[in-house]
Amino acid sequence: MIPDKVPQEDVYHAPQDLVKGAHVPNFEKYKELYLKSIQSPEEFWGDIAKDFFWKTKHTGKFLDYNFDVTKGNIYIQCMEGATTNICYNALDWNIHQRNLGDKVAFYWEGNEPGDELKVTYRELLHQVCKFANVLKSVGVRKGDRVSIYMPMVVELVVAMLACARIGAVHSIVFAGFSAESLFERIMDSQCSLLITADGFYRGDKLISLKLIADDALQRCRDKGVPVEKCIMLKHLSKEQPDSPAASPSPPAKRPCPDLQQETPKDKVRKIRPKAQVPWNPEVDLCWHTLVDGASEECEPEWCASEDPLFILYTSGSTGKPKGVLHTVSGYMLYAATTFKLVFDYQPDDVYWCTADIGWITGHSYITYGPLTNGATSVLFEGLPTYPDMSRMWEIVDKYQVTKFYTAPTAIRLLMKYGSAPVQKFRRDSLKVLGTVGEPINPEAWQWYYSVVGEKKCPVVDTFWQTETGGHVLTPLPAATPMKPGSATFPFFGVVPAILNESGEELEGPSEGYLVFKQPWPGIMRTVYGNHQRFEATYFQKFPGYYVTGDGCRRDQDGYFWITGRIDDMLNVSGHLLSTAEVESALVEHPAVSEAAVVGRPHPVKGESLYCFVTLIDGVAYSTTLETELKQQVREKIGAIATPDYMQNAPGLPKTRSGKIMRRVLRKIARNERDLGDVSTLADSSVIDQLFNNRCPTAV
Ligand code: WT7
Repeated sequence: MIPDKVPQEDVYHAPQDLVKGAHVPNFEKYKELYLKSIQSPEEFWGDIAKDFFWKTKHTGKFLDYNFDVTKGNIYIQCMEGATTNICYNALDWNIHQRNLGDKVAFYWEGNEPGDELKVTYRELLHQVCKFANVLKSVGVRKGDRVSIYMPMVVELVVAMLACARIGAVHSIVFAGFSAESLFERIMDSQCSLLITADGFYRGDKLISLKLIADDALQRCRDKGVPVEKCIMLKHLSKEQPDSPAASPSPPAKRPCPDLQQETPKDKVRKIRPKAQVPWNPEVDLCWHTLVDGASEECEPEWCASEDPLFILYTSGSTGKPKGVLHTVSGYMLYAATTFKLVFDYQPDDVYWCTADIGWITGHSYITYGPLTNGATSVLFEGLPTYPDMSRMWEIVDKYQVTKFYTAPTAIRLLMKYGSAPVQKFRRDSLKVLGTVGEPINPEAWQWYYSVVGEKKCPVVDTFWQTETGGHVLTPLPAATPMKPGSATFPFFGVVPAILNESGEELEGPSEGYLVFKQPWPGIMRTVYGNHQRFEATYFQKFPGYYVTGDGCRRDQDGYFWITGRIDDMLNVSGHLLSTAEVESALVEHPAVSEAAVVGRPHPVKGESLYCFVTLIDGVAYSTTLETELKQQVREKIGAIATPDYMQNAPGLPKTRSGKIMRRVLRKIARNERDLGDVSTLADSSVIDQLFNNRCPTAV
């Protein structure tokens, strides 16, 4: 299944100095380990498990499972009989076993330049133990669910690890979600406690988090299911009195301090001005008051392997989010191992993942993966574009970041502004670059590789999902020759296949449904409270396989290329087309910074292509350009892919995590005004703009 040989030409290789000390230094080694991971999982993962602390060892099979709905319930069970604690492994074990107490766990970089903190492993352990004791003091017990709705601050990591330490199940809700979304998630997971903060700044926009949280809590009360307690962190102002004023006055506006003139302490105060928040003494508790009196010692709760670790909601095709449930031991091994091997983690690395902890990327590759490896990470609260387009590279330079992980959407956004903002800062500390979240078009890959990495850093295009817990298709930086836009080959323990519509496995070069034939330790275990939905969503369509919902192509060299969600596949005159493919062709034009393509029903062809294009700053939209773009797609893919309709899209409808909402674009292409739920849109003003700019021939 893994090809014997990979091409040596027209591919990109890691530089020799990276290969030298790498964990997996060449393709031969990758193949050898891959075979072992499939043929002797017990031995493969057993070796890895030796680096972790187990209170008791496992007694049953390493992985026991049923993947076939026709044979009974779907289940996945890893390391039966073992007991451990992931927080203990992430902190205590590093401090005691590896002597990393004084090592920096996080460099926290706030939204405003100059607002910064660092926290060592020992300090983090103390904070976590204190907060774990706080959780116990407010009645949280093993198995209880705790909602966390916080900005990107160290205390968010503290809260999640404190839950893990006492065996409580965290359900983190991204701080960009609305009150309605938070309410829906709290209700679904039946949380007894909400942890939040007063507010935070995203760029120069103030988000009054506590007001939104209060709104969500009121909705729970209205439903007759009140949440007992709400712990609030004062992030905007730590100097505030314990019980803030009862009147809900809006938090102060951010002044524009002259940062140069001030002492660091003043800086921080002005950067995060005081906020007045509403306070309900029956429910609200102050984080700081509770923590002040708490002990720095807290014995971890020893959890069984399959005890739940966390719930994380991900959108479902029905509109109701699914509570993806991950469990302790398998997730721990998988997050740790993928982190170590995919970023080729080395002890002196400074690693930075720009994702938010509110998404799975942050769970696995800001908190659990890096910490279980004893890594030093940057934790960034702000935006790549604030205060200017150089912010990311300024941070890379400041902390001498060696491994950098971001999303294609961020790359394309920055690409729009050219190479000057990147080149303003040195990036010679960088060794490995990563991407995640969507297919990366070769154009953006090339820019990332050449401009950001100066052709010295391998780019790991990591394919995975909230459901998979960690990377499942990915290059290993020193071992896998890279092809721009391909997620390359499976990670250890992962067995992919490509199926056609009838569920037959395709061999050799082919295109179809991407599925997995057996579980790996990090795969989700159920949809919280709805196992039937878990089976129906992922296992019903093709019995015996986990269905990703993504389309995939395997080329003549055996490389896997994700073509986008199956629901983004278009059928034009009987030909299957991936929207990503057309988008990539459009984006290759020098005038285009981003493109989104959707299907529009067509009486003859079945579907026609409707394209939204965002142009580089300063370029005007014209019919000449349209003709050029259509020609370009014809040339890149073929006449079959010629766009039927095209329109100027200065902005695209995106979720706060940067995903384009194609559902909305499909409606615009059809000129249907009933858009359904658009509450997850980051900026709803783009909608009117897009309707006004509709392609005049698409009546
Ligand atoms: C979907 C999962 C995994 C963390 C972020 C998203 C798409 C993800 C890639 C990639 C092509 C990718 C897939 C997948 N996706 N990574 N490297 N290449 N597509 O997590 O919200 O659960 O989304 O993101 O479509 O199914 P998620």
